[in-house]
Amino acid sequence: MALKMRYLELNRKVRDVRMLAIQGIAEAGSGHPGASFSAAEIMGALYFHKMKHRSSDPLWEGRDFFINSKAHSAPGFYAVLATAGYIDTKEVKTLRKLGSRLQGHPVRYSERQKNHSFPGIEYSGGSEGIGLSVAIGIALAKKRDGKKNRVYTLIGDGESNEGQIWEAAMAASKFKLDNLVAILDRNKIQQDGFTEEIMPLDPVRDKWTAFNWNVVEVNGHKIEQIIDALSRIEKVEDKPSIIIAKTTKGKGIKHMANSPQWHGKAPPKKHVPILLEELQSEILIAPSIIAGEPENYEEKVRRAERAGADLIHLDIMDGKFVPSTSFFADTIKHLRKISSIPFDAHLMIEKPIRHVEEYIDAGCDIITVHVEACNEVEFAEINKMLLKAGISPGIAINPGTQFPSWLIGHLNNIDVMIIMSVNPGFAGQKFIPDTLDKMAEIVKTLKSNNYKGFIEADGGIDAATLQQVFDAGARIMVAGNAVYGSPDINSNIIQLRHKANVAIETKLLELATINDMRSDWIKSRKNMLIPLAKELGIEEDLHAIK
Ligand code: DX5
Ligand code: ZN
Repeated sequence: MALKMRYLELNRKVRDVRMLAIQGIAEAGSGHPGASFSAAEIMGALYFHKMKHRSSDPLWEGRDFFINSKAHSAPGFYAVLATAGYIDTKEVKTLRKLGSRLQGHPVRYSERQKNHSFPGIEYSGGSEGIGLSVAIGIALAKKRDGKKNRVYTLIGDGESNEGQIWEAAMAASKFKLDNLVAILDRNKIQQDGFTEEIMPLDPVRDKWTAFNWNVVEVNGHKIEQIIDALSRIEKVEDKPSIIIAKTTKGKGIKHMANSPQWHGKAPPKKHVPILLEELQSEILIAPSIIAGEPENYEEKVRRAERAGADLIHLDIMDGKFVPSTSFFADTIKHLRKISSIPFDAHLMIEKPIRHVEEYIDAGCDIITVHVEACNEVEFAEINKMLLKAGISPGIAINPGTQFPSWLIGHLNNIDVMIIMSVNPGFAGQKFIPDTLDKMAEIVKTLKSNNYKGFIEADGGIDAATLQQVFDAGARIMVAGNAVYGSPDINSNIIQLRHKANVAIETKLLELATINDMRSDWIKSRKNMLIPLAKELGIEEDLHAIK
């Protein structure tokens, strides 16, 4: 099912949420990075895509309601509301300050509370276990009034120790509240440790099923899975639904990830520039299915998804724009039925304006056309069609093509730019080193024109070339031969991720060194740097710290 979610823009907004939240927490010197980060995709999927709401009219009658029962995720929640336009993003830096509207735990907005809250906050949280009951009250009232508003509530797994959660669960199924959706941020950590050690919640799925709820499980950091689940749940009748979102506390900052100590602790302010760099360095891996054995696309998609790929790169070749012919919209339509992984379609075809509709209908999430195959007017038309359909628009540039200045005027509506590092037409070609300087040059031009989209590297990307294109600015890595060129796809993707990790840590170390805090940074990140010590050349640093 095509989700029409403008995937890359959503991805970028959720990244911005993490960046805003960590700045607010560091500025305040306190706050909860763990929960803000584990629930970022969940709250992003709701506010940036699924929920009916208006930041220009926060009390609009027809709005859906979000009850944030897991209130210590406040910094992330405020960052989501700021990114959605309820407050200026700058205000997130006033978090927890005296006189700030952004309290440590959100306060429900009212005229009386206007100095401690802002319109858009529906619920005063803090002591946990209560939000689900409030959500049930709203859902029941709306249902009895025959209103179509939907009610969403975010609950925690530590919070699920509270008995009131289970009383509420019984009531919701009693009243058949199919307009109510709870989302469980299942990061398996609570304030002072791991949930399964403190108060085991598993088998959590069976518990909610036994309370007669419709239960769906997703990877809570794959926004496409959350949105897919939210769409399917809308068709469920006479039952409330719960999405069990498997998440990682502190996801996004490696030394905070899955660590109880970062439940309610702020990083030193001086680390913020490095943490922001890390958040902007996340890499997406996109296997190209034309590589390896001929066809067998279905199996290739399934295996890549199982191996943890982020996207599937679909090379559409018409035998005219490029010498080879691959597959077309009908094949993609079929593949769309077997997976919700985002499809990154690379159209190497002549006159894409005549065909782009077919790829929209086929269920692609990202559609990239070549600058050599269309003029500005055609590109603008294609772009308009893609944005209207909720597809992330992209443009690709061949090695021999100069960056056309007319693209500058369209940058706001371009979510990805493919800088080809081979001449298109085949997988398994050798990487063209000259394209590195070109990529770096284009990235400079884009940055100076406030481009917010992604750079995608395509052609000859493998363990040897990945760091180079990462350093040049690429964050989406297409890999054909490197993934499908040998049988063990799992370890091929693990190796690429490892190389990506080394590239990111090298960059962060450089930044820490430039800012004169190398040993302090290594100390704060010691545990996850030790396995990379040799590759990063920091054995002496680590030794000195001991
Ligand atoms: C080439 C395609 C690439 C290619 C990548 O025209 O656009 O996506 O399949 O394959 P590798 O990684 O093997 O170069
Ligand atoms: Zn490609």
